[in-house]
Amino acid sequence: MQKRPRRNRKSSIIRSMVEETKLGTENLIYPIFIEDGKGIKNEVKSLPNNYRWSLDLLLPEIESCVNLGIQSFDIFPVIKEELKDKMATYSYASDNFYLDAIYQIKKEFPEIVLMTDVAMDPYSSDGHDGIVEGDKIINDRTLTVLGKMSVAQAQAGADIIGPSDMMDGRVGFIRNELDLHDFQDVSIMSYTAKYASAFYNPFRDALDSAPKSGNKKTYQMNPANKREALIEAELDTIEGADMLMVKPAICYLDVIHLLKENFDLPITAYNVSGECAMVYAASQNGWLDYESAMTEMLLSIRRAGADGILSYFAKDFAKFQKK
Ligand code: PBG
Repeated sequence: MQKRPRRNRKSSIIRSMVEETKLGTENLIYPIFIEDGKGIKNEVKSLPNNYRWSLDLLLPEIESCVNLGIQSFDIFPVIKEELKDKMATYSYASDNFYLDAIYQIKKEFPEIVLMTDVAMDPYSSDGHDGIVEGDKIINDRTLTVLGKMSVAQAQAGADIIGPSDMMDGRVGFIRNELDLHDFQDVSIMSYTAKYASAFYNPFRDALDSAPKSGNKKTYQMNPANKREALIEAELDTIEGADMLMVKPAICYLDVIHLLKENFDLPITAYNVSGECAMVYAASQNGWLDYESAMTEMLLSIRRAGADGILSYFAKDFAKFQKK
């Protein structure tokens, strides 16, 4: 035999010498759910290991993550039903607990990168990412709400704004609003190719944010489409996005790869709740080994071309790597 590829796998030193993809905590962004109140740490039933936290308990949790090497977080708010309305007005209200939490977290941990979520659904009595009229989701008037929400979050101290709504033109609109309010340094990580996926259910359980009627197919992308992601990525690039995200990650590794090959901006991917829930469930049953399955998933997302990964595995990966 002239060629024996196994020679490059013969010891762990050689294997790591020729390892093509590196994965570290610096690549990870940890999504966390926060709710109003005190002393709350409620596990999300469909997403074991993940909790709805009140701020007083979340601050020490962030500290323990920072000590494990996690430096970036994305916070999602759980909003009480009585505060929701058709226009998501609570999203930029001055007494909004989420905005206060952003401020408190950045005050306590100025060095971390804090990403925030921009979309109407957690605050919308319709459970949609835009204004609902009849059976339509109204695009352009939704932008005004998203703009106010983004400025409020930037004012509170957000480092990265994450528009997860899929309205047309929102990246440019938000960029303009941020700049008008002197937030030139606040970044936008756009949910560029966000698909109408079956893998968001545990997240919607966590936030109680499922659509009250219909589905999200008139704004989130069709899972059958790949070329369409190029259109979205081109628009987001022109409109001033700093990073382009693909979501979900595991069923869309080809899309991550496609954007990586065609665009110069950093590419990120959201390893969504349903993807993590599958691994938790199988490992709780003893069908998969949690640590190695989780690491393989994260590695595959990096290998496909993602620079950054949002993942509920972030903390466990950091623990695993440390030991
Ligand atoms: C909604 C939003 C969703 C997620 C992040 N932001 C769900 C949806 O579009 O209904 C899902 C994240 C996950 O499943 O982990 N703006």
